Amino acid sequence: MSNLTPADVDAVCDLVDNLCGICWDSSKSYLIEARLSNIFKRSGCANYGDFARKVQANLLPQLRGEVIDAVTTHETLWFRDNSPYEALKHKIFPELIDAKAGTPYPKRIRIWSAACSTGQEPYSIAMTLADVVPDVHRWDVQIVGTDISPGSVETASRGMYSDMEMGRGMDPQRLNKHFTKHGAHWKISDEIRSMCNFSTRNLHDPFAGFGPFDVIFCRNVAIYFTAADRKNIFTRMGQILQPNGWILVGSSESLTDVGPKWSPQFHCKANCYRPTLTAEAALALGVRR
Ligand SMILES: C[S@@+](CC[C@H](N)C(=O)[O-])C[C@H]1O[C@@H](n2cnc3c(N)ncnc32)[C@H](O)[C@@H]1O
Repeated sequence: MSNLTPADVDAVCDLVDNLCGICWDSSKSYLIEARLSNIFKRSGCANYGDFARKVQANLLPQLRGEVIDAVTTHETLWFRDNSPYEALKHKIFPELIDAKAGTPYPKRIRIWSAACSTGQEPYSIAMTLADVVPDVHRWDVQIVGTDISPGSVETASRGMYSDMEMGRGMDPQRLNKHFTKHGAHWKISDEIRSMCNFSTRNLHDPFAGFGPFDVIFCRNVAIYFTAADRKNIFTRMGQILQPNGWILVGSSESLTDVGPKWSPQFHCKANCYRPTLTAEAALALGVRR
């Protein structure tokens, strides 16, 4: 039996919105106890309303990261949906590599995995690039994995995964090529790990000083945000994407409501978009679309 009052529910929903920009409303009150009861019990607070206000005012700083970890959903797997990685392999990377030839930095590639969870997404991108570019260790590659959840970023940085995690999308060939067994865990190879770096970042915060990127993966996260916040985030992502860059969203997501800024691309059944270019801009960039 829940002891939550409507005021408690409102206070926790406000907290979740303020910390992560994630919309919870009274229909999600079942999530409050399911996800926060352990942290709440340790907080010493009298009720959830008090707990929410104290976390928000940063009076319980040691619990803030734990609350963020608990209210976010970290579901992920290797090569999720397959189609984005097919598009990278057959279309995006070959075109990107061609487009960079003859530029001052022909071997520089910058990719952002914008809600990377525990790292499977950025490492899958790195393994795909290694398939396309056999001498990738000679390239200047940075795959930047960010997530709001400190616990997920820590797991991603460690690059160690259990048998169960490896069973979710990792094929035996890549397992042998890119991982070694360390006790009960599989450790990602130095070659793949060295292409990736990880940090915490809230997508609702400004992107000033970040980027520019050739490719942005923003998959299965914007579904938790309001339509206005989604529009704002994808508009700002457009500002830190190369004019000829790519953005990939989840298989059930689309940028059609984000305005004419984005042109849908149809490759390998992946949901991908490029900035809409004027005829003059396309000509200046030597782009054929
Ligand atoms: C369902 S996972 C998706 C992971 C990966 N992109 C994929 O498609 O497999 C969603 C991730 O978004 C992160 N997230 C939620 N709100 C966020 C925010 N405001 N800023 C950055 N990351 C956020 C969560 O912590 C979680 O790891």
